[in-house]
Amino acid sequence: MMEELRFDGRIAIVTGAGGGLGRAHALLLASRGARLVVNDLGTSHTGNGADASAAERVVDEIRAAGGEAVASHDSVVDGDRIVQCALDAFGRVDIIVNNAGFLRDASFYKLTDADWNDLYQVHLLGAFRVTHAAWPFLREQQYGRVINTASASGLYGNFGQSAYAACKLAVHGLTQTLAIEGAAKNIHVNTIAPVADSRMTRTVSGAAALAKLRPELVSPLVAFLAHEATTENGALFEVGGGWIGKLRWERSEGAQLGSHAIEDVAQSWGRIVDFGRSTHPRAIDEALAPFAGQMFSQR
Ligand code: NAI
Repeated sequence: MMEELRFDGRIAIVTGAGGGLGRAHALLLASRGARLVVNDLGTSHTGNGADASAAERVVDEIRAAGGEAVASHDSVVDGDRIVQCALDAFGRVDIIVNNAGFLRDASFYKLTDADWNDLYQVHLLGAFRVTHAAWPFLREQQYGRVINTASASGLYGNFGQSAYAACKLAVHGLTQTLAIEGAAKNIHVNTIAPVADSRMTRTVSGAAALAKLRPELVSPLVAFLAHEATTENGALFEVGGGWIGKLRWERSEGAQLGSHAIEDVAQSWGRIVDFGRSTHPRAIDEALAPFAGQMFSQR
């Protein structure tokens, strides 16, 4: 039997932990010894209103099970206050699960500036603000685990979710660069794209269709990525219903064109989009290799 993976001595912030996935992540981490900041603004599923009881209820659950937790009712937009809450209560922060969010579906034609801005604030600015406020402490202690929450919508697109999708893919852009910048300080940053039954997904799918996709089935991956044992950094995982898979980029072999003619592009199209001899660039230097000979040429 493998030794139990525990989080004794670790302080975790889980945003949006008053329900759904965040609650499940918080309960699992707390059950393995982490001390928790349960953050939740307590909004509706479309991001309206505020209700402090959401975070309080989960704190009560954790305490009733013998764990340690404090509630934070701030919006993730005020990430510095959430991090300060961890410092005031526990003196440090080790793990951040950026999970808070909401959906507000509207086709791009009907999307308003306010919708775009609200979705951007909770999903992307919020992840930035919480992580940015904690970053100096993670660097200083040379330890940190950050898990960002993307979405299949961001990876593949989804009707009515242009703003949500843009922010969710951007979250992984943040992950990839923070993974590079944090690596030398033992800060690992990864992204999950979960699928789970929650009040959010019940707005688009029926309860029966979601029955087997319990949020608790996503949390073991989050906890593993939050553990010091994880060697993953900058990666992206799809997860739901007990299934976990990893995604990577795939690039066609491509075609080196002989001229600047548009017709050359047209004639080479078959080779440009042919994945028969594809590669999987893992880092920017690998990705830029095909251009290396031309980058510094005068032409
Ligand atoms: P949920 O609606 O059950 O939980 C989200 C929580 O975030 C709520 O408790 C809400 O009060 C809180 N929240 C909203 N705005 C906040 C703010 N500004 N500051 C702090 N807390 C705030 O939804 P669910 O499904 O648990 O979603 C969790 C995350 O997973 C979200 O980022 C969502 O976009 C993402 N996700 C969920 C999927 C699913 O299948 N459930 C699919 C793909 C992504």
